[in-house]
Amino acid sequence: MDLSGDLPMDPTTHAAATGPAEQDWTPPVYPQLPIEPVSGEGCFVLTTDGRRILDLYGGHAVASLGYGHPRLTAAITAQARRLVFQSNAVPMSIRGEAARALAGFAPAGLDRVFLVNSGAEANENALRLALRFTGRPRVVAIEGAFHGRTAAAGAVTWGAAAGWYGFPRTPFDVTFVPRDDLDALAAAVDHDTAAVILEPVQGVAGAVDLSPEFLAAACELTRDAGGLSIFDEVQCGMGRSGHPFVASTLDVVPDLLTTAKGLAGGVPAGAVITSAGLAGRLGPGDLGTTFGGGPLACAAILAVIGAIEDEGLLARVQRVSETLRERCVVGPVTGVQGRGFLLGLRCSRPAREVRDALLERDILAGTSGDPAVLRLLPPLVLGEEHVDQLVEALGEIPA
Ligand SMILES: Cc1ncc(COP(=O)(O)O)c(C=O)c1O
Repeated sequence: MDLSGDLPMDPTTHAAATGPAEQDWTPPVYPQLPIEPVSGEGCFVLTTDGRRILDLYGGHAVASLGYGHPRLTAAITAQARRLVFQSNAVPMSIRGEAARALAGFAPAGLDRVFLVNSGAEANENALRLALRFTGRPRVVAIEGAFHGRTAAAGAVTWGAAAGWYGFPRTPFDVTFVPRDDLDALAAAVDHDTAAVILEPVQGVAGAVDLSPEFLAAACELTRDAGGLSIFDEVQCGMGRSGHPFVASTLDVVPDLLTTAKGLAGGVPAGAVITSAGLAGRLGPGDLGTTFGGGPLACAAILAVIGAIEDEGLLARVQRVSETLRERCVVGPVTGVQGRGFLLGLRCSRPAREVRDALLERDILAGTSGDPAVLRLLPPLVLGEEHVDQLVEALGEIPA
């Protein structure tokens, strides 16, 4: 599996980057695409050489409202004028508002929010809480998972030990079980298990959704064994599945839910969401962060949740996702997997070649850990007209 993470790119395109010698000053860890976006509007980014590119990748699923969304822009601008930053050392009503809005957006029962900066930080904290609350040594994770690049998040990332993981050992024991294998899950979860962590739709793996039965079983088996369930909705959450969270579609809720990426529409933000019961077991110093919960991020979170709710974006995601599924099996695409706006287009030829051919036609898409799967993570404001553009371009690309 390619553990370069959420990289829509290809080493061979690195040299063609048009930026002002960025690579002279930064380590060469990101092979980059040969475009330089300078501005954006709606679902399009505009480049230095005057191209207008339909962005179906959204900066690794971050640009949930697309570009230049009036509500997000106004919220960030107004907050920047008032107060860019203060930390958790002081109470802030905008932090309370953002936490309340996110708790309201999350499934019932998950009503306490700790704001951080990124997906990995959210997962690191969720795992730490599970290990600490249970006093147990082992975490169960799912084959194909990607949870981030920090020590704990890396430990539960499939294949990380053989790839970039790089630490001499994992900070706890990990057992991986195959996707959707209920028997393996039942066998793995026991009284040593602190947590089961899973992505309801595995993003980096190529938009592979786990079955509702498996998701529910993960919550129930873990609870019965006295452990905690963690849903990593860093990529598939915040409306991307066509629901607030995938967990929102189940009859059971996980004990901890993490999210980030689209949470603040581009301003760095992540969150650990949990129950009042678990949060009530925490005291001063049990969690900490410098930037997490800063007012700029909180203003952006409020704008994102407000826009999703007021503009009917969940219904839009469901509708346009259905159209994508129906119409995108054309040219090199042989099938569509995933949910909502986290879709994998299975291709008859390397997804990287299809990605490059689309970029030549002014459409930006991503690759994934599966070399045959092209990943779409468009802004939630994508419309039918954009699907037309994609279908036309795919039709021009040989199978
Ligand atoms: C499911 C999932 N979890 C965690 C992460 C890590 O998030 P971040 O890069 O914000 O640390 C990612 C990033 O791709 C992800 O897709």
